[in-house]
Amino acid sequence: MLIAQISDLHVRPAGVLAYGVSETNAYAEQAINALLRLRPAPDLVIVTGDLTDAGLPTEFAYIADLLDRLPMPVVCIPGNHDRRETMRTAFAGKGYLPIDGRLDFVVETRPVRLIGLDSLWEGHGSGRLEPESLAFLAETLAAAPDVPTVVALHHPPFVCGIAHMDRIRLLDGAERFAAVVAGHPQVERVITGHHHRPVAVRWAGTICQIAPSVAHQVTLALAPDAAPDFVLEPPAFLLHNWIEGTGLVTHQAYVQRAPGPFPFFQGKSGGTA
Ligand SMILES: [Fe+2]
Ligand SMILES: [Fe+2]
Repeated sequence: MLIAQISDLHVRPAGVLAYGVSETNAYAEQAINALLRLRPAPDLVIVTGDLTDAGLPTEFAYIADLLDRLPMPVVCIPGNHDRRETMRTAFAGKGYLPIDGRLDFVVETRPVRLIGLDSLWEGHGSGRLEPESLAFLAETLAAAPDVPTVVALHHPPFVCGIAHMDRIRLLDGAERFAAVVAGHPQVERVITGHHHRPVAVRWAGTICQIAPSVAHQVTLALAPDAAPDFVLEPPAFLLHNWIEGTGLVTHQAYVQRAPGPFPFFQGKSGGTA
């Protein structure tokens, strides 16, 4: 089973650049094209939040249309830039978002099932998992203790060393979230977005992994007083591949085409890496 994770698209109304610089709508279209080029095709695509930059209906309409080009099931969780009710309306009828309350859901795929959690704390850049989301997580995990599970939310629950992003990580409910995950060893991975960088850590007895953005990246700056800024490093995404006997293997893939591939063995002379 192959799960593609794209994150932090930050699409804008037509003709508007995010932060005056980032062509996020073009990046989003390139990301969809990159997913369509993949062989084998992913079985499922998850978008880990910040689909839009301002949560506007026009932004959600744009991204919903783009995601409709994908032939496989697509599920989305909200980020701090999204707006819950606008997102619920945009994706109504897709069959996985609840009709009211928090946008938490489970997708009963096999061999890996996927739980999406709503960490949007409206009015804040940082994230919150409310008691009802944590109860949903605990009940859903308890219902299938033998099924390998991926838990997705937008906000990373740990300190990663990029100070201005750490200040807006999952702040409310992070310790209770860790306690629930630690009690369920079938959680193969906790996957997030938000930090616009690829980062991984051992956390709560599992691996917590942050996806890069398919648009602009947060500058890799580990000094405590580093300025909050971003760079146009290559857009990228994650592929989580379930391999029987190994587990969930995560690859980082790039949106843009690169020169190649070039064969290691040319003619009769041979050669290898
Ligand atoms: Fe973001
Ligand atoms: Fe975010």
